Amino acid sequence: MEKDFKRTLVTAALPYANGGVHIGHLAGVYVPADIYVRYQRLKKKDVLFVCGSDEHGVPITLLAKKKGCSPQEIVDHYHKLIRDSFEQFGISFDVFGRTTSKTHYQTASDFFRTLYDKGEFVEKESEQYYDEEAHTFLADRYITGECPHCHAEGAYGDQCEKCGTALSPTELINPKSAVSGSKPVLRKTRHWYLPLDKHQAWLEPWITEQHKEWRSNVMGQCKSWFDMGLQPRAVSRDLDWGIPVPVEGADGKVLYVWFDAPIGYISNTKELLPDTWETWWKDPSTRLVHFIGKDNIVFHCIVFPAMLRAEGSYILPDNVPANEFLNLEDRKISTSRNWAVWLHEYLEELPGKQDVLRYVLTANAPETKDNNFTWKDFQARNNNELVAVYGNFVNRALVLTQKYFDGVVPAAGELTEYDLATIREFTDVKTQVERLLDEFRFRDAQKEAMNLARIGNKYLADSEPWKVIKTDPERVKTILNIAIQLVANLAVAFEPFLPFSSSRLREMLAVGPIDWDRLGSTDLIEAGHKLGTPALLFEKIEDDVIDFQVNKLKEAERRNAEANYRANPVKADISFDDFEKLDIRVGTVLECERVPKADKLLRFLIADGLDNRTIVSGIAQHYKPEELVGKQVCFIANLPPRKLRGIESQGMILSAENFDGSLSVVTTLSEVKPGSEVK
Ligand code: 2FM
Ligand code: ZN
Repeated sequence: MEKDFKRTLVTAALPYANGGVHIGHLAGVYVPADIYVRYQRLKKKDVLFVCGSDEHGVPITLLAKKKGCSPQEIVDHYHKLIRDSFEQFGISFDVFGRTTSKTHYQTASDFFRTLYDKGEFVEKESEQYYDEEAHTFLADRYITGECPHCHAEGAYGDQCEKCGTALSPTELINPKSAVSGSKPVLRKTRHWYLPLDKHQAWLEPWITEQHKEWRSNVMGQCKSWFDMGLQPRAVSRDLDWGIPVPVEGADGKVLYVWFDAPIGYISNTKELLPDTWETWWKDPSTRLVHFIGKDNIVFHCIVFPAMLRAEGSYILPDNVPANEFLNLEDRKISTSRNWAVWLHEYLEELPGKQDVLRYVLTANAPETKDNNFTWKDFQARNNNELVAVYGNFVNRALVLTQKYFDGVVPAAGELTEYDLATIREFTDVKTQVERLLDEFRFRDAQKEAMNLARIGNKYLADSEPWKVIKTDPERVKTILNIAIQLVANLAVAFEPFLPFSSSRLREMLAVGPIDWDRLGSTDLIEAGHKLGTPALLFEKIEDDVIDFQVNKLKEAERRNAEANYRANPVKADISFDDFEKLDIRVGTVLECERVPKADKLLRFLIADGLDNRTIVSGIAQHYKPEELVGKQVCFIANLPPRKLRGIESQGMILSAENFDGSLSVVTTLSEVKPGSEVK
């Protein structure tokens, strides 16, 4: 339901300044946000596009330590790298600020202080692990140890990855600091918490009833948080990198990065518009839209709105069109494993091809589910769509006009039925593209734009001006006039998606910006107008370019394999007798279901040849239970039974752990009888 807003404030998630940006970021957040903003501008709507780098948080301090420099040096470096990459991809922010700016420190401090003075926080004392060598409290993830449940080594302070149990750091046996390797000690510490439990009463109906239009992936995540019941969240940390908590006696405490980062949207707006920023943040006739990836949903749909409401004078987001994830060559993008296509590298290796990537990422946008980027698909979409459809049509229309009419747009004569039918096919392109963009359906919207080129190619192929010129040159004038109008329509329709190409195309047409509102009409270019020089709008991408990229990923994979062996060296030799003690068998899965309140656990009932046995396995995040029913699995049959979440598990199902941490259950190549031994 369209409300009557006067202006739109668009934010794009602030990227962490501890690395570059990759195609996953671009596809998930920045390209869709940019398309949306460009579209608003073309419609002459009042819109502001705000972003910046997120420069606090523990990972930045650890990277600084590793590199032997200060956190400030790290964020200075990456802020610039990220800002430049975005700029070169045409991501048209009105402001790209940073959370280490003075304005931000002041704004975030004041925000905290207002909530503090209003009694919006609860203060709690707890015991947390402290690293006496590194002189720092440790975030849960930075403490490892033995899992008290399955006794696996290397469990994290918040969760054991092996058995899936959620843990608190104090449950770990022999805890170790991941920062210095030393044994951490417990220390008392006080923190401020935002009592989200109290906010649930308004947050839940606000989202589930008043924002039914939000994407189903966003709604689904919010509902599951509500179903679990919101809990108070700490908004401060014991750390020496961040914005000091502006309260007496809070030495050594800073605002939690997820408290200060979204306030960065506000401070960056302030930085740009010191006098009028409040209109953008406080006037109810402003529409606030957050573009984010799915890992940020809870912060933008629940935590930040709670902060804004608690402050009292701010508007709340009207929509949060979060995307799912983009995989790379069928695998999760991983920055630490360098399984990524970095924008700064792309710009060097494929110069001038920003629009190709924008196109492919939108065509493949992970809007409703995770999606996959492959270099082969990139090449195919470039060669078969941009070159063969869009570029080809434009080139034929321009070259023919050059050839037959010296580049001067001919006047159309009487239109045939076929001409009229062709025109009817694109008169509603504006309505279609706008409807889809208004619904944040970018891939479908781009398809509509591309459809203009398909219509154009078909029109030229059917009308055959290269033949007709010999018999009826007057008719060719009409054909090429219509073709040129279509070319101009393409320049307009693609303006939000492929801004560089639209601008080049306008150069070839020798026209300035064309009003978006005229999209779909047949009088965009006047008869008698002299066109510019035709050139290729897109170039074919050859195999060697793709091979280079694929080899680069293979190289990353090889390094990962080496790193995997370094991290998990082959264990000491065992005797053959030892091996023979291990009884591995094949079983058929009869039943499989989730274990309540354990994110990672599945309970299996396995036919083992003799009997049925129950096995609990920590693979719930890698399989849906129904995917495994009926499948054959390999399991260790002679381990002593042990209890997991109150269920006696009689064995262990074998899985292979991929380098990205994903698990794949081990099975046999062909079906065998349950109970067969694996030797
Ligand atoms: O997930 C991230 O990359 C965060 N740096 C996003 C922050 S968005 C915001 F709230 F600023
Ligand atoms: Zn465990």
